[in-house]
Amino acid sequence: MDSQLLYKYLFHLSIQTLCHFNVIINMKCQSFLIFKEKLNKGALVMVNRRKISIIGAGHTGGTLAFILAQKELGDIVLIERQQSEGMAKGKALDILESGPIWGFDTSVHGSVNIEDIKDSDIVVMTAGIPRKSGMTREELVQTNEQIVRETALQIATYAPQSIIIVLTNPVDVMTYTAFKASGFPKERIIGQSGILDAARYRTFIAQELNVSVKDVNGFVLGGHNDTMLPLVNNTHINGIPVKHLISEEKIDQIVERTRKGGAEIVALLAQGSAYYAPATAIYETIDAIFNDRKRLLPSIAYLEGEYGCSDICFGVPTIIGYQGIEKIIEVDMNNDEYQQLQHSAQAVSEVKNSLKFK
Ligand code: 2OP
Repeated sequence: MDSQLLYKYLFHLSIQTLCHFNVIINMKCQSFLIFKEKLNKGALVMVNRRKISIIGAGHTGGTLAFILAQKELGDIVLIERQQSEGMAKGKALDILESGPIWGFDTSVHGSVNIEDIKDSDIVVMTAGIPRKSGMTREELVQTNEQIVRETALQIATYAPQSIIIVLTNPVDVMTYTAFKASGFPKERIIGQSGILDAARYRTFIAQELNVSVKDVNGFVLGGHNDTMLPLVNNTHINGIPVKHLISEEKIDQIVERTRKGGAEIVALLAQGSAYYAPATAIYETIDAIFNDRKRLLPSIAYLEGEYGCSDICFGVPTIIGYQGIEKIIEVDMNNDEYQQLQHSAQAVSEVKNSLKFK
């Protein structure tokens, strides 16, 4: 090859190499621009982050936020009234600072601006005054109705597509209040007490038999008050009916203790009511919704004829999935159980009829 030809060849090669790099650089630049554009639009950072707002940063709200943060179920907003601003912000920051230790990247934000619940996927209502020793849940109705009604209207404004979970007592009637005030479809209003009541019932049975709570399967229906109905005939220890293992007298005592489970804690604490088990029950509901688990869980649902009840929110077996209460399950029960359930519905109806805003 003469030298002129060699130069030509080398020149051609270097141009080709340059072009090649140029293509790569262009491609990289292009992808960077797309990446940047996506970042600017928030497409990359916002994908799949769900938002849970908790109204009320008291013991239950704070405990729930702590559980949810560890489970990384979504970003959390903890809302309080103006006069309790420090509580919402302090608890949120405290939980956030546990993130590096637990290893979660959840955002936890405390606020007194209700607008901060904007576009939440789930709003949990824990706000309201708690029970004092000697007080029934029903005695809270007047004060808490006002709080729940106003909050439900705000949720309808700022998070109209959300699912509302109500924990404020008396919870059956407060769920009804939230349903009426928000105007949400019935599947997106869930009152929660049955998981808590069943957890207490299962705890007492496990203690009595000295077996793992994991093996105790039991359901509690009806109002969240002394008339609630643990379904003894449907209670099993890994398939073995509880009636085969525990005497009737002892079962009656466990049922009674379950019915008074909330009051037992109120009396022990002397100030306020239970919050660890109630918050955990809400976590289980949220987990079922976000993971579309189709769990069969007791929830307070708006009834339209199920179990012979209408225009009432009441504890029944439900399927909980992505859309909230996806189905109400009607279980066969004997006449005695059915009558007890009707008695419980009657007790809830009486409180409901005392509501100012229906
Ligand atoms: C309970 O039963 C707070 O109502 C709740 O402990």
